Amino acid sequence: MAAADQIKSLIKSFGEGDDSRFYATAMQIAAAEARSGHTALADELKKIIDKAKEGKSIALGVVKTLPLNTSQKELKDLLELVHPDEKLKQMVLIPPLEKALKRVLDEQKKFELLRQNNLFPRKKLLLVGPPGCGKTMSARVLASELGLPLFVIRLDGLISRYMGESISKLRLIFDAMHQIRAIYLFDEFDSIGTTRGQGNDVGEIKRVLNTFLLQIEKDDSNSLIIAATNLPETLDKALFRRFDDIIQYPLPDKEDILKLYRRELQHLKKSKKFDFETISSHSLGLSYAEIHKICEDVTKDNLVYGTNEVSEEKIISYATQRKEPF
Ligand SMILES: Nc1ncnc2c1ncn2[C@@H]1O[C@H](COP(=O)(O)OP(=O)(O)O)[C@@H](O)[C@H]1O
Ligand SMILES: [Mg+2]
Repeated sequence: MAAADQIKSLIKSFGEGDDSRFYATAMQIAAAEARSGHTALADELKKIIDKAKEGKSIALGVVKTLPLNTSQKELKDLLELVHPDEKLKQMVLIPPLEKALKRVLDEQKKFELLRQNNLFPRKKLLLVGPPGCGKTMSARVLASELGLPLFVIRLDGLISRYMGESISKLRLIFDAMHQIRAIYLFDEFDSIGTTRGQGNDVGEIKRVLNTFLLQIEKDDSNSLIIAATNLPETLDKALFRRFDDIIQYPLPDKEDILKLYRRELQHLKKSKKFDFETISSHSLGLSYAEIHKICEDVTKDNLVYGTNEVSEEKIISYATQRKEPF
């Protein structure tokens, strides 16, 4: 028999629309039955859970729970649903960054305990740093580690497509945060954040940004809000106060470049003269994404030209090309 706590958790998570907790509790019940020797029942429970997961399209879930006048198409246009599967250990992270992400995960995992004590786990994050340093990837990792769906929202796209209506669309998104617990990523957020207070025809953008700030401040949903930006210095300071954490994503130093190369080239045969230190020194200044691209390119070369080796010279030449494309 399921323990009382598990039954309570099932009912609560159902009421809150928290699918991941619901399934996790159901799996715990199945595991407990297996431990008690009720293997047939445990197997049956696992099958039921798998079937339920398969059948439940999260996107449809959103539409079902939003106000009735909202068409499915409208929501699909606003929110891009992603199901990432990257894990934290796949990222090469400097210690403070790793600590910050782990803290978010740990607090989210103790969600109930914190709420029982009238506290909120950290859930409003501003990710700051140059392109290709893992901001979008972190949102994907957090979603995957927490078993939550990820919705990506591009505010500039929202404004250009819904001129005059963008504020009501934005409100719709913040309403959805109450209906479905997920990670809502406002990616490339600077496209709108920078325009605040500048120039002439920024009325709509300004209003959208103000609404965005207000909604973030007001938000008391169980969802996570992540905003990512490449250009922190041009952002209005008013933005920073609204977030629980501002997390910095610097370019990788030599040590991290080396780690990434080692990881990404581990399956390839290296030429006789191949020194990870040397290729890493030549790659300083490149982003994680660019290093990743170089590794992808040499892997592709091997397939296309039927070779199975990678040379130090090739990596250095690809790195130099990326640093000095002209
Ligand atoms: N810290 C990291 N560790 C490992 N790979 C990374 C890291 N940061 C970026 N990458 C690689 O670069 C790609 C692009 O990174 P992304 O997160 O989109 O950058 P950003 O959003 O900061 O511009 C990722 O899909 C991944 O392959
Ligand atoms: Mg990005």
